[in-house]
Amino acid sequence: MPVQWTLRSAGRHVRNPLAIYVGLALTGMALIIFTVAPLASKVVQRWSQRDVELRSRLVFNSIRDQVASGLAGGSGVNLATLFNRIAEDERLLALAFCSEDGQLLHATKRLPSSVDCASVARTNHDTLATVYDAERRLLVSAFPIGTRSQRGHLMILHDLRLVDDRAAKARLYAATALVGVMVGIGLLAAAIILGAWRGWSQLVRSALADIRHDIEPTSRRTEPLPISPQMRVLLRDFRAERREGDGLQVQWSPQTLHLLLEERLPQTEVIAVSNREPYIHNRSNGSVALQIPASGLVAALEPVMRACGGKWIAHGSGTADRETVDVRDHIRVPPGDPAYTLRRVWLSEEEQDGYYYGFANEGLWPLCHIAFVRPTFRLEDWQQYVAINRRFAAAVAEEASCDNPIVLIHDYHFALLPAMVREHLPGATILTFWHIPWPNSETFSICPWREEIMHGLLGSTILGFHTQFHCNNFLEATDRFVESRIDREQASVTVAGRETMIRPYPISIEWPPSALAGQPPVEQCRETIKRRFGLTANARIAVGIERFDYTKGILDRMRAIDDLLRRQPAWKGRLVFIQAAAPTRGKLAAYSALQMEAERLAEEINARHGSAGYTPIVLVIRHHEPDEVFELFRAADVCVVSSLHDGMNLVAKEFVASRDDEQGVLILSTFAGAARELSEALMVNPYDTYAMGEALEQALTMPAGEQRERLRLMRDLVRVRNVYRWAGQMLLDAARLRSQQRIVANVVAGADQ
Ligand code: F6P
Repeated sequence: MPVQWTLRSAGRHVRNPLAIYVGLALTGMALIIFTVAPLASKVVQRWSQRDVELRSRLVFNSIRDQVASGLAGGSGVNLATLFNRIAEDERLLALAFCSEDGQLLHATKRLPSSVDCASVARTNHDTLATVYDAERRLLVSAFPIGTRSQRGHLMILHDLRLVDDRAAKARLYAATALVGVMVGIGLLAAAIILGAWRGWSQLVRSALADIRHDIEPTSRRTEPLPISPQMRVLLRDFRAERREGDGLQVQWSPQTLHLLLEERLPQTEVIAVSNREPYIHNRSNGSVALQIPASGLVAALEPVMRACGGKWIAHGSGTADRETVDVRDHIRVPPGDPAYTLRRVWLSEEEQDGYYYGFANEGLWPLCHIAFVRPTFRLEDWQQYVAINRRFAAAVAEEASCDNPIVLIHDYHFALLPAMVREHLPGATILTFWHIPWPNSETFSICPWREEIMHGLLGSTILGFHTQFHCNNFLEATDRFVESRIDREQASVTVAGRETMIRPYPISIEWPPSALAGQPPVEQCRETIKRRFGLTANARIAVGIERFDYTKGILDRMRAIDDLLRRQPAWKGRLVFIQAAAPTRGKLAAYSALQMEAERLAEEINARHGSAGYTPIVLVIRHHEPDEVFELFRAADVCVVSSLHDGMNLVAKEFVASRDDEQGVLILSTFAGAARELSEALMVNPYDTYAMGEALEQALTMPAGEQRERLRLMRDLVRVRNVYRWAGQMLLDAARLRSQQRIVANVVAGADQ
């Protein structure tokens, strides 16, 4: 394919500037030729004419005496004969003698009729004049000459055509010579430039090929690289930076993620581990029903696994889970369109009580969330936690078909798993993501097994949190509780010679969300919801949707509704708050107490402000499938996310994504990680009931234009920073670390030889 150069000029693209360069060069050449060639011709003409003039004088001087004798008449010189003989010279046109009174006395035959004695200046000096005769120029020289008896002028005529011919030839030769020289110079320059360009492009091509070879050892290697090692490193860095820079700009999608894995981590096995499984099979009314759990972790990781393939190891918690797996406890999912393998791990009720309800949810969960629920630590729970982490580590080792897979470990259920997997698979790249906040070290210090937890997590290659703030808290805890070297610039911790990178990766949702596909228009969703809950046509709807968890601030937002209805009774009969809450961890006292309290509070508020046909707070306590959640989001005027503390909170991002009509207002707690990104939401402190009530009113009265402006910005952010970018950035970091490790291993191997 021909090389295409493109110039940007005055805001538009000009194709093939080579034509411009050639055009400019040709114009320059023409200018030079049209200036220099006439100049040369003029010079030659002047020289030649001077020549003729000299010649004319020479002729006069050489015949002056003979002419004078002829005029005197005594020497036997016949002027007619003399003139004819001299005029035989082809360069001399004619000779004539004019008397003092202007009479033509002697003349040769070729004297043009246009020239006569009247045209000769009657002076005592020599005169030389150029006259035109028909098409030709003539030099007419007149020299005064005389004897005592006769005086007059000798006229010598030269035809100047020869001079003009010479000048014309000089112009032609000069122009030809100039064109020749310029073409020669141009060709030489073009040859030099082309040679240099070819050399460079070959150099760069082979450099890139070499880099490709480094990254994809299977690709065919090209010529050895004629380039310095520094240049090679520079080019490689440039390529990596460009790609990672691109990562910020490209629309991350399942395809991008897939390509990334193929290119940067070719043939790499991916194994994900989480407590919660993405698909739960339950027996209900004699048949098997599929459930997608209400879990931020599942919402984020599932689309990533669909894009990456591989295996996902999780607790099989459904009542029909055992019936649906094969002998290796595998099931291909998503059902109907399998993309990866789910490996289920079985836990007894006792084990769940200790590991999941006990240590994870009564210990670590309240420890990491500032919700003023006291963490409870029991030795038996801890022991179960250790044992179950061990079981999952063994499952990872079983599922791994190579010794260096990428293992993605999720959440606070598996704080010990990274170090345990490392024991089984020392070459694994372990990415651990902590989905909840990490507390300050003062708070963390109350955990009786804080050192074990830190050491467990530091078995990771990379440990990720949602925010830099949580990374900082973790580094602070490391500083206090672990003998380690902390590199704050690199944000890494080294324990016993092994380094762990501590990085923020704000989690997100898939874009476009699959639950949005097939949703009816917003108006229709609104009508459906109003019909379903018996709301009036002019009802304004605020919603809250999440697991029934005390960290979500469900009671606080109900109190804010109460406060608004007290202060602004005009909203009574119009404002309805629908709280959809999925029951969760119901075995735990804190959760059952929350549910009871929420039900009681809803009753109280409804009794205070409700009337026949109007229920201000509608509590729907059941699991909602993703499409039901999206329908509710689309029906809402306002979505309230009032977490008391939250790692990220994907509900906020899902609400934004669900509103392709760019209408609706998000009220967001400043204590949710999402507040760092969705800054166009109405920010609230959920502990400030009055301010939250005011925010509700502001949301309900916000002009459509402002809603659109805010939502547009937030939608843009969620679209760009989607979950594929979240996973992609972790995998890119993993790929870089794997390359570095390979280099170090090669150097060590080289040194050993
Ligand atoms: O917030 C962390 C998280 O793992 C979420 O991703 C998920 O929604 C929840 O905690 C866990 O819920 P469950 O205990 O029902 O799996």
